[in-house]
Amino acid sequence: MTATAGTAATEARRAIVVLGMGGTIAGRAAVAADVVGYRAGVVPVAALLEGVPLPAGWRTEGEQVANVDSKDMGVPLWRDLLAAAYRHLQRSDVGALVVTHGTDTLEETAWVLQAVLQPERPVVLVGAMRPASALAPDGPGNLADALTLAADAAQRGIGGVWVTLAGRVFDARTVRKVHPMRLDAFAGGDAGPAAWVEAGRVRWLTAAMPAASADAARAARIDTVLAASVWPRVEWIHSHGGADGALVRALLQQRRAALAGGDADPPLAGLVVAGTGNGSLHTALTEALAQAAREGVAVRVTTRCAEGVVVGEGGRGGNIWPVTDLPPAKARIALALELLWRAAGVPVSPAGPGRRAE
Ligand code: SIN
Repeated sequence: MTATAGTAATEARRAIVVLGMGGTIAGRAAVAADVVGYRAGVVPVAALLEGVPLPAGWRTEGEQVANVDSKDMGVPLWRDLLAAAYRHLQRSDVGALVVTHGTDTLEETAWVLQAVLQPERPVVLVGAMRPASALAPDGPGNLADALTLAADAAQRGIGGVWVTLAGRVFDARTVRKVHPMRLDAFAGGDAGPAAWVEAGRVRWLTAAMPAASADAARAARIDTVLAASVWPRVEWIHSHGGADGALVRALLQQRRAALAGGDADPPLAGLVVAGTGNGSLHTALTEALAQAAREGVAVRVTTRCAEGVVVGEGGRGGNIWPVTDLPPAKARIALALELLWRAAGVPVSPAGPGRRAE
């Protein structure tokens, strides 16, 4: 479905394509006071755009890719979104994309788009913490900010994937949802916000980054991802007091069964471990992971801390697996993509594996 918004929209204006994925920003409750028991992913993107001011000189086009609660995101929907985004980014009249999305997995989708597309034009993800039916919904203001940010970044030649909520702007690598209710539910860890959107203007806090030029293998990586209906199975586990490796051993049983044809699910191919502190792992967990690695499972270590990254090798020098500076949810995606690309013989995205990879 495609809809054009704006009073005096002309084809000569550059377009911001707004891809609707659902979420609370498109949510509705039976009563306006209900900001918890609503249904996410109901209102069409064309309706979300109604009445939202456009940046001067721009027009918008809405396309409904999906309308879901983002807890249900996964490879099929990411593939649909990637295909739509890639199609529009190849149009000469499109300056930027905005994606309306649920906040629960927004950071994962942001990373999928960044790692796979490495877009030279800006792609801005936006959500809301209150449904469209709320007494004071935050969606319309956030969407107006997203359009402002998209236009501003396009005019400055800033590419890449960005997230905005509650006036703050974060990059795809560092952004995380940090609160289940607050309107400013997102943070960039110790990187902080990259910019603020204030009264229709963008104030960049970091030096505006020019659009990264894509490396030669980008098209092959995109084709590989668009052709894949499943990604290698990567699970995400934590180290914690009392961790004994039982979960890893159970997953290894699944891998053995799947490889032997006795389990229809894809075999375990990778494990992301969110270690304690600087990526330290319980000794019992380390032993189970070593067995997994011996059986061909790729292991990556990150930290379960809400801020910061693993410094050095992590684990007080004892880690034998590569560490990544991505938080666990994004590290899981990065490893799945890395394994997918490696299996296809395609060079891995520099934006994909995180700070250090094999
Ligand atoms: C969702 O993630 O789709 C629901 C929650 C939200 O958007 O805040």
